[in-house]
Amino acid sequence: MTTNTHYTVQFPDSDYAPATVNADQLLSVSLTLENSPILFGCRTGICGTCLVSATGEMLPPDADEQEVLSILAPDCATARLACQLRPMGNLSLTLL
Ligand code: FES
Repeated sequence: MTTNTHYTVQFPDSDYAPATVNADQLLSVSLTLENSPILFGCRTGICGTCLVSATGEMLPPDADEQEVLSILAPDCATARLACQLRPMGNLSLTLL
């Protein structure tokens, strides 16, 4: 038997309503132009287009994402690349 868990992603600095995302998917799959203010470019963690401040429950960045974050947002402890972000609970995302 499989469970289909969903979480809520809020965008507090925008007019977008909270989006419901699948727990098993990266946000680059769950979020679209229609349901979020986040723009995606490469979707592979290279370009930085999807840079956000993220709070909530999520897997930590891997070494590759951490390297990009250290260049793009070295002083922001909550910075994440939304395209690499896999939720583990409800999230709040703000564009950086
Ligand atoms: S879309 Fe390029 S780093 Fe996320």
